[in-house]
Amino acid sequence: MTVDLSIHYHCQDCRINSRLLQRRASALLRECRVADHGLSILLVDDQEISWLNDHYRHKSGPTNVLSFPFGGGADSSLSLLPIRELGDIIISVDTALRESKEFKQPLHDRLTWLITHGLLHLLGYDHELSEADAIAMQDKEQQLLTRLLSSRSIAMTHLAINVDHIATIRQARGGVQPDPVAAAAICEMAGAAGIVVHLREDRRHIIDRDVRLLRETVKTKLNLEMGANKEIIAIALDLKPDMVTLVPEKRQELTTEGGLDVASQKKMLAKTIDKMRKAGIPVSLFVDPDTRQVKAAHEIGATFVEIHTGRYCNAADAKAREQEFQTIATMAEEAYQAGLRVYAGHGLDYQTTARIAALDTIEELSIGHAIIARAAFTGLDQAVRDMLAILREADRIN
Ligand code: PXP
Repeated sequence: MTVDLSIHYHCQDCRINSRLLQRRASALLRECRVADHGLSILLVDDQEISWLNDHYRHKSGPTNVLSFPFGGGADSSLSLLPIRELGDIIISVDTALRESKEFKQPLHDRLTWLITHGLLHLLGYDHELSEADAIAMQDKEQQLLTRLLSSRSIAMTHLAINVDHIATIRQARGGVQPDPVAAAAICEMAGAAGIVVHLREDRRHIIDRDVRLLRETVKTKLNLEMGANKEIIAIALDLKPDMVTLVPEKRQELTTEGGLDVASQKKMLAKTIDKMRKAGIPVSLFVDPDTRQVKAAHEIGATFVEIHTGRYCNAADAKAREQEFQTIATMAEEAYQAGLRVYAGHGLDYQTTARIAALDTIEELSIGHAIIARAAFTGLDQAVRDMLAILREADRIN
């Protein structure tokens, strides 16, 4: 996918963030399922767009955006070329600036709207044909912009922190310290976007009291990780966390070892998802980076998948790690294209996180052990901030 953005515009009073616009345009191509096409965007002034408006549309004066589909001109044989190009979108920054003042909208949001509008024209939408066409185009614009706002193209990767290991230390002495509820508050104050806890059947670390209190105190997002068993499902339905992540659970394992085998448990998992949906709780399925599992998760109505990063983190050498990384990148793209929201986690540390965090399709990372381990030496606040710095830096890689 290539978005070619050129700026033919000189402005004293404004700065145009071409990287931001390019990322938003790439995300729009992905949303419109045309990520394998190229798109050219040209930002000009009123004078230049007036000339184009006059020359190609015989209309006088400036306009906000013009779209020229590839091969849509007089030489129609161009459209027969085996080239995946959508065409050109030309935007007048002068007009966008006036409109951003009129609609009280930040300039880059206005420019994003104009790119969306121009792109839909290139894809065949035309609001000038009829009222029904105008409504269809407006609805699509709205839908795309809503998706864009919640996507990674707008925000850096979120960091959700798993505080189970704080509870593990507490349980080692059977007392009340350290308290995972206090840990969650420190993580949030340091900038975490969510808290994850795994309420296991055997209550080896997180206990019911923790989840109850966290439900009351977590201000960002409480993600309850759980096996799909009757007792824990009832607790989730009662406490209503912000979301649940279904994981396979074996009593003997030290930590969750593999992803859920969604493909062979579709019926049972679909039932659990349905119960959660009725209670307003979105469900994530923790899956290995495997196309069968991602497809199955989509088929049974999961909102999210969390892609297991364990094999990537534990790879024996650089070659194997590269292979695992490519598999994760491909699966994340596939899940995203299917309409799933994509998280990732397990085993990520201060060395392995950056590349995963730089993937545009992954919205959030769930990290526990590495942060809690570092916290023993640096304090929890610093350990969270160190990880956030990696995520922030990874955001610049894109
Ligand atoms: N995601 C899931 C589904 C997990 O089970 C765990 C481990 O509790 C994590 C993420 C975090 O893994 P780690 O503690 O290795 O960072």
